[in-house]
Amino acid sequence: MTAGQADALQRLWPKWGLDIDGRHVDLVELFGNDRPVVMEIGFGMGEATAQMAAADPGTNILAVDVHTPGQGNLLNLADRDGLTNLRVGNGDAIILLREMLDPDSLDGLRVYFPDPWPKKRHHKRRLIQPEFLSLAATRLKPGALVHCATDWEPYAEQMLEVLTAHPEFENTQADGGFAPRPEFRPLTRFEGQGLDKGHVVNDLLFRRVQHG
Ligand SMILES: C[S@@+](CC[C@H](N)C(=O)[O-])C[C@H]1O[C@@H](n2cnc3c(N)ncnc32)[C@H](O)[C@@H]1O
Repeated sequence: MTAGQADALQRLWPKWGLDIDGRHVDLVELFGNDRPVVMEIGFGMGEATAQMAAADPGTNILAVDVHTPGQGNLLNLADRDGLTNLRVGNGDAIILLREMLDPDSLDGLRVYFPDPWPKKRHHKRRLIQPEFLSLAATRLKPGALVHCATDWEPYAEQMLEVLTAHPEFENTQADGGFAPRPEFRPLTRFEGQGLDKGHVVNDLLFRRVQHG
């Protein structure tokens, strides 16, 4: 961690940080308003997250990662750009979803370039799995957008398969396939590294279904 990142954590955590400790979170209290809240899981160094928060001040972004230098970096960017619509969570996004958030509380979920776990024996560690989607569905409002992206094609296929099969989600794409990268998603750091290696990037845009 750089000195700047450590300093940002110390200065800004009390203002914009959220400890993922299992305690209930009131999102209106956390952000100080009742604007829509989109959660991002695994923001890495946070450059893309800061850009999205700046471009869409009417949306609150709850960005979560376990990576402390990245948290410091994102807090620094938020401070520099005055991003009052951003909060940074430290810990496991699953705990936040399962134990801390109310049902139907999120307007969207973003998972950009989650760890690909390429080895077969590690596939079970991948985030986008049916159980995860069932949990996420309970926390998302009907109609909420789930946006995933990956540069690892076998994982992209897995994402498409499990999202398509899940009864709580429907593809926004009429052909049932991958989506073009939406304008609001900037290139991410991890994506840049993948592109340098010649990887193909796929985006997936699904909605939580509206019942009745
Ligand atoms: C491959 S990196 C991608 C980072 C960033 N989205 C990008 O595209 O540059 C994946 C990130 O997900 C984070 N991560 C993995 N599992 C997580 C979890 N359960 N909760 C929160 N963050 C997680 C990792 O710490 C890592 O920073």
